[in-house]
Amino acid sequence: MKIAILASHGGSNMQAVLDAIACGRLGMEPSIIISNNRKAYALERAAAAGIPHRVLNGTTHPEPADLDQAILAALRESGTDIVLLAGYMKKLGPATLSHFDGRIVNIHPSLLPKFGGQGMYGSRVHEAVLASSETETGVTIHLVDGAYDEGRILAQTPVPVLPEDTVETLAARVLEREHRFLVETLVRVSKGEIPL
Ligand code: GAR
Repeated sequence: MKIAILASHGGSNMQAVLDAIACGRLGMEPSIIISNNRKAYALERAAAAGIPHRVLNGTTHPEPADLDQAILAALRESGTDIVLLAGYMKKLGPATLSHFDGRIVNIHPSLLPKFGGQGMYGSRVHEAVLASSETETGVTIHLVDGAYDEGRILAQTPVPVLPEDTVETLAARVLEREHRFLVETLVRVSKGEIPL
């Protein structure tokens, strides 16, 4: 199973997946890394790992339909079977969503449907969790269906919110859990224990 990873910023979740593949824990092969952000650290990680990587965005392809086709072509030409959105902050276009329907997986840093939807990403999620005085948050891994954070949930795990938490401490605790849970979940997907 060949996995493409799309990432917009740091790519620490992507790195966790690449590390698990490199050490033989996850039986997948990386096909391509795509970022919308040419300055994304994820691209440096991809280069360091020797994995093909591309920048595809509104500058390389000003027409949204062209960008959609370019992303789809990059995924198909690299032999991609499954697409992982690991901190990818853009919506995929209809052609890519349709071709890879049921094979696009996203990781989100809350217990969806709580704290999801448009504009809910990164630290904004944790700010909202703290503002609502929740005692528990978590990680959700779900299929992507075109709406923000709404596809079928594949797996979830809770993470405690502590009374003294700041956005930074909570984000760090959730991210650390994300890395392990993402790999665990993809291992289960690769073994057919979680059907896509
Ligand atoms: C992660 O916390 C991921 O769950 C979140 O962005 C971060 C990316 O970190 N994604 C979303 O909020 C999507 N709605 P990373 O680039 O270090 O993996």
